[in-house]
Amino acid sequence: MIRSVIRGSGSALPQRCVTNAELAAQVDTSDEWIVERTGIRQRYIAGEDETTSSLAIEAARKALAAAAIEANEIGLIILATATPDNTFPATATKVQAALGCAGCIAFDVQAVCSGFLYALTTADSLLRTGAAKKALVIGAETFSRILDWEDRTTCVLFGDGAGAVVLEAVEGDESGPGIIASRLHADGTQHDLLYVDGGPSTTQTVGQLRMKGREVFRHAVVNLADVLNEVLEEAGVSAADIDWVVPHQANARILDATARKLGLPMEKVVVTVDRHANTSAASVPLAFDAAVQDGRIKPGDLVMFEAMGGGFTWGACLARL
Ligand code: COA
Repeated sequence: MIRSVIRGSGSALPQRCVTNAELAAQVDTSDEWIVERTGIRQRYIAGEDETTSSLAIEAARKALAAAAIEANEIGLIILATATPDNTFPATATKVQAALGCAGCIAFDVQAVCSGFLYALTTADSLLRTGAAKKALVIGAETFSRILDWEDRTTCVLFGDGAGAVVLEAVEGDESGPGIIASRLHADGTQHDLLYVDGGPSTTQTVGQLRMKGREVFRHAVVNLADVLNEVLEEAGVSAADIDWVVPHQANARILDATARKLGLPMEKVVVTVDRHANTSAASVPLAFDAAVQDGRIKPGDLVMFEAMGGGFTWGACLARL
């Protein structure tokens, strides 16, 4: 059978790091409130010359280098973002042009904070059909551009960045490396809990993020625990078999609550929300790359990825490295 194996990862952050104290000078908030309610201590904010595509290109180049794969070997680029450079064409095509692999499949997926899970699962499906042999899967965002910087209930929560992985289709069996099982979900009836109040077809503006945080929190814990159990069941493994959970980094309390529901110790959960805040589609690959770089995640490990975001959308994916 064909398996999609993660060959390498990379990530990129804007140059400017903004602390909670700096935000407290702009809006009515405090370092204490932000740390206690979210676990966030700082976030990276893109400068004028930094874009979703520039961050994505940097992350993609690092992932290719880590995988020791040349850009011209890539047959598929899927980029997850809710903050594309332009309404069209897809930011993935800008990445493709910069990498010099024109001709391969390249498109964006839009599932907000679950975007990387949607992109990873789509890439896995396409690789297993034989549509491509090697794929770049990228999550990249500049959420700072769609925040209402006067709304303290949202502007303190998000940051910018990008992460990428290279997947390769190989012949193998279930005992070897590769993506083992994935599940994706969406519930469009929850639109009003987390959305952007603009867009080309409605207001002809980009719009700003609006969120009912407390209600999102409640749904997140339930949906994530459910989808994690679905994937474990499909893979035929128990939570205790997992070496690492790489979750979407929205809030330290959501990470705690989800781990507790699964009976997983926090030592197995990769946490970067304190450093990166919520970078939407970039957060899972950013966290994954951080844990690969610092030597925590190693070849052979069983890794669970999971995310939940606007839509609502949510999903989980289990892979053996
Ligand atoms: N600084 C200081 N006070 C703030 C604040 C800030 N940045 N943001 C909100 N507050 C205030 C509120 O105005 C409210 O004051 P009030 O009681 O006088 O009305 C109080 O803090 C509590 O607000 P509430 O929204 O109930 O807090 P909370 O404990 O639910 O925490 C979130 C707010 C947003 C941190 C939390 O709900 C959350 O993380 N939700 C999930 C968000 C998420 O994950 N989104 C992305 C999914 S992809």
